[in-house]
Amino acid sequence: MKPEIHIFKDVEELSRAAAVLLREQAAQAIAERNQFLVALNGGNTPLRLFQLLAEDFRDEVDWSRVYVFWGDERCVPPEAAGSSYGQARDVLLSHVPIPDENIHRIRGELGPAEAAKDYARTLKAFASPPLAWPYFDLVYLGLGEDGHTASLFPGSAVKAFDPAIPVTAHYQDRPAERVTLTPIVFNSARMVVFMAAGEKKAFTLAEVLDGEYKPQLSPAQRIQPVEGRLIWIVDEAAAGRLR
Ligand code: 6PG
Repeated sequence: MKPEIHIFKDVEELSRAAAVLLREQAAQAIAERNQFLVALNGGNTPLRLFQLLAEDFRDEVDWSRVYVFWGDERCVPPEAAGSSYGQARDVLLSHVPIPDENIHRIRGELGPAEAAKDYARTLKAFASPPLAWPYFDLVYLGLGEDGHTASLFPGSAVKAFDPAIPVTAHYQDRPAERVTLTPIVFNSARMVVFMAAGEKKAFTLAEVLDGEYKPQLSPAQRIQPVEGRLIWIVDEAAAGRLR
């Protein structure tokens, strides 16, 4: 499936577009299947999206039918500053009427190996057989300056057969131990939305979208939904080097 690329003026506009996609996907999924399964990302880019969902879009989503997961997590306790779950809880989830039992975080505090196994069990509980994981209705992903996405880093195994795997990451000053879902899960999603903003992402974004296919170096290229839509929403600064 060819990626759809949308370029916005700034993070505000990009985040609003990302929120609209959630509202639309949620409405459709709930109408068709009575539930909406979304995987969130960590990092800075989705912060404004989370705020908008908690404020302007709060009353436009049936949160009681929303089930929240994560595409990856740092192996820290949920209260730690680096926890992607903690960030989403503080900025979004604690501000919307979503039942606690609909929130399925990766338990980073268990350590990478155990947390990955634990999350595989969580995914299995929502699985669409014969898959051992669900078809996510929406997956949000970010792009690292080194081409990583979720916690799929350059040099990591291109073929992964488990839905969730432990990772030792070497990137900036962030915690090194992580758990990530793998392309087999992301690529069965109904919609994957990448968000990238800022000039620092421009070179990497051009490599991922316009460059040769090098999944070893640019793990974001591994994300190619089989039947779902792949949407990039980026700001002008990040799009600066696109062809
Ligand atoms: C994380 C993400 C990671 C992130 C990118 C981009 O939790 O860190 O899963 O893949 O999306 O590193 O992060 P920024 O949005 O902070 O640039």
